[in-house]
Amino acid sequence: MNGKSHRPLSFLFATCILFALPACPGPQVKPDSAKNANLAEAVTTFEARSGSAISGDATLRQDGDSVRIMVNVKGATAGEHGLHIHEKGDCSAPDAASAGPHFNPLGHNHGGMEQSPRHAGDLGNITVNADGTGTLEVVLKGLTVASGDLSVVGRALVLHEKPDDLRTQPSGNSGARIGCGVITVKTGN
Ligand code: CU
Ligand code: ZN
Repeated sequence: MNGKSHRPLSFLFATCILFALPACPGPQVKPDSAKNANLAEAVTTFEARSGSAISGDATLRQDGDSVRIMVNVKGATAGEHGLHIHEKGDCSAPDAASAGPHFNPLGHNHGGMEQSPRHAGDLGNITVNADGTGTLEVVLKGLTVASGDLSVVGRALVLHEKPDDLRTQPSGNSGARIGCGVITVKTGN
């Protein structure tokens, strides 16, 4: 009795699997777009430099023709600190001088976020609170996460001791490099 009554149901499921009918019950197969999104995301973790005790990280995500950069800093002194993408993804020097100058593939002058044109790697300043933490979210036009001349990957995100004055050439007079992180493509999940 039982065997007879559920046979037609099994047959329906078998037909569904064989022909992938849209009207069939169960989850529909969707393209794996979430996995592809990770190809457009990069990350970095700050290493303390120049005798500082700072830590933190950043996510850099492709957003149309721009890269959205979300930065977290811990252990810094309260106030404004200059923040830039520097040309070389090399934080090995104790003072992070190995990261080279500001990322400037188009040969512009140094400036702030409101100035255009400016160095592609100019992020202005991050404000650090009394508890030593700070966050910044900025959108930099014209950069890419994907490889190419304007890619942020393989460069370094550098946090400075002092505020960037957004004027002085070529680096905004922002003092020592107290944090440095090599920017890499995000892998996994
Ligand atoms: Cu810098
Ligand atoms: Zn600059």
